[in-house]
Formats: sequence, structure tokens, C-alpha cells
Amino acid sequence: MEDRFGHRISYLRVSVTDRCNERCRYCMPEEMQEWLPRADVLSFEEIQRLILIAAGLGVDKVRLTGGEPLTRPGLVQFVSQLSALGCLKQIGLSTNGSLLTRTGPGGKSLAAQLREAGVTSLNISLDTLDPGTYAQVTGRDFLPRVLAGIDAGVAAGFDHIRINAVLMRGRNENSLLEMVEFAHARSLLLRFIELMPVSTTEVLNDKNFFPVREARRVLENSLGQLIPQPDFRTNGPATYYQIPGREQKIGFIGALTNLHFCETCNKLRLTCDGKLRPCLGSHLEVDLMGALRGGADDQALRAIFLDTIARKPEKHEFRENYQPGRRMIAIGG
Ligand code: 5AD
Ligand code: SF4
Repeated sequence: MEDRFGHRISYLRVSVTDRCNERCRYCMPEEMQEWLPRADVLSFEEIQRLILIAAGLGVDKVRLTGGEPLTRPGLVQFVSQLSALGCLKQIGLSTNGSLLTRTGPGGKSLAAQLREAGVTSLNISLDTLDPGTYAQVTGRDFLPRVLAGIDAGVAAGFDHIRINAVLMRGRNENSLLEMVEFAHARSLLLRFIELMPVSTTEVLNDKNFFPVREARRVLENSLGQLIPQPDFRTNGPATYYQIPGREQKIGFIGALTNLHFCETCNKLRLTCDGKLRPCLGSHLEVDLMGALRGGADDQALRAIFLDTIARKPEKHEFRENYQPGRRMIAIGG
């Protein structure tokens, strides 16, 4: 399944909820709006049907996101159902990490339950190791819980755990090295992400923007020249570098400054309210929920997927004074 620009679509990011227990300043709008009513969010049955249709078109990797996906009741059971379909090679989960230690029946951590249900990899958001900065950025003092959540993830034995840190000038520019050592000590793959204009908040301005190029320079001052790893890839657009004298690799997600960012894009996004979005940085989205609830058969849903892929843009519009129209939290990163 390829678009006009030769992007092979194999990866679907699925937002299962717009709700979140944190309030990250780059994600949520200033004045909090209401969460979506339950009825306006796709049911797990509906999501599963759409995933099956996507799988029929070549998608074999799914990532569950939110909001915070772990705030949605029944998620573990849903993952088990997805695994049982047998058509997905990878099921990833993006989380803020704060609920991974929550225990269920039998005393198992949510991390362990997710692993057993078939989640293969975790992406955990962590921008800083400083409790005060963490609270400022996320609006919650959950750092100790998140650190415990990361330990629970490591103990649960996922194939990969990645740590995603959004770069912000004046917030975490002085803690990059500390983050690198933290990841090194636990053999986690750390990626630094450029701030993207995906929500209407005051932090998304030039003053707070901290380009990956500069983050690399800061690290090189202490660690020596980083060694590019052009052949090392994960599912996304990160470019990786190895630290001299170590096995450790660090990823850089230069969403704004890397002009090749979109060339290898393999992704579609399904929002929690049932819209198919071919690109995070383009306003184009196509309603699937209306068709689904209007009684469309699989063939009709398949046609919507194909039409959306045919209209997938060549690249995002973030550099063209893009004005976000939808909250990041409802798209799912
Ligand atoms: N710019 C860059 N990354 C963002 N995320 C949320 N909002 C933004 C933004 N404005 C990240 C989170 C998480 C992932 C789902 O998206 O930190 O790692
Ligand atoms: Fe919640 Fe993630 Fe958005 Fe932060 S970035 S408010 S943790 S969904």
C-alpha cells in the first residue's frame, strides 16, 4: 500500500482516548476544554474492525496512544484481542509512564499485564529528571511514579523501551547529559524530539524551540563527536548517533529542522473520535466514524483508507506557519 510519493504505509497510530492525567504545556491548550463524551470516542470493537481493515491493506504495526492510553479502562483486554488477531507484528504503546506500576488482580503491575497481553514495545515520555521542572512541564508532580513505572517496564521484559524527551529551551537544555546517563544505566533508547506546533499553547514559540542540532552539540561537548548511524532505524523518523566508546545510541527527532523528515514516513493516524489522519502536520483528516456508525461495509471502509492514503501529503506543513486546528492530545502524538 503506497501513496503518490512512494511512502509504504505499514504503521497505524491509534489514539484510544483524549483523556490524560497530566497537563503537558506543549500538548494541552491553555484553557482546558471538556474531554470528549464517551459516545464520541470509538469503542474497542470499532477500533479493532478498523485495524483489521488496515491490516488487509498492509499495516502490520500498531501503536496505541492517547491522551494517556492507560487511563482507558479495559485496555489490557483490548491488547489481548489485538494480539489474538495474529496479523500484527508489533503492538507498541506510548505512555507518560505514570500508571505503569498500578497493580491489578493478582498483584501484577500494569506494565507486566500489558507485556503478557502482547504489547511489544513501550515509548515513555520523560523530558527531565528534575522533579521541579517535571512538575512545571507536565502540571503534575508524578516524576517518582514515572521513574518507578520505567523500572516496572524494564522488569516486564519488553522488546524495546524508548524514552522520548521533548527539547525545550530554558527547561531541559541543561539536563540532556543527565538523561543520556539515565538511559545508559538502564539500556533504554533515548530520543530527543523538537517541539512541534501541534496545539494552541503559549509554549510553542520560537523562544522555547531548541533544535536537535544544538542538542547534539551540547552532548558532543562532554561525550565527544557522535557517530552517525544511518542504517539504524526504528519505525519512526528519528536519526540515530552512537556515543564514542559506548554501545549506546541516541535518537534525534528533528521534526522542524530535518528537511528529510518525511521521506520515510510509513504512518497513518486514527484519532480517538474516528478520523483518519494521513499526517500530523496537515489539517487533512477523513471521517471514518460516521461511515462506520452509518453501517458502511468493509469494502466501503477500505475505500476510505485507500482514498486517504492517496491524499497523504508529501511532507508536513510545520515550517509554513502551520496553525494547529486540533489538540495534540486528541491526535495522539
Ligand atoms: N511537540 C513535540 N512532541 C510532543 N509531544 C506532545 N506534544 C508535543 C509537541 N508539541 C510528545 C510527547 C510524547 C509523544 C506522544 O508526543 O512528549 O512523547
Ligand atoms: Fe498527557 Fe502525553 Fe499530552 Fe503530556 S504529552 S498531556 S502526558 S498526552
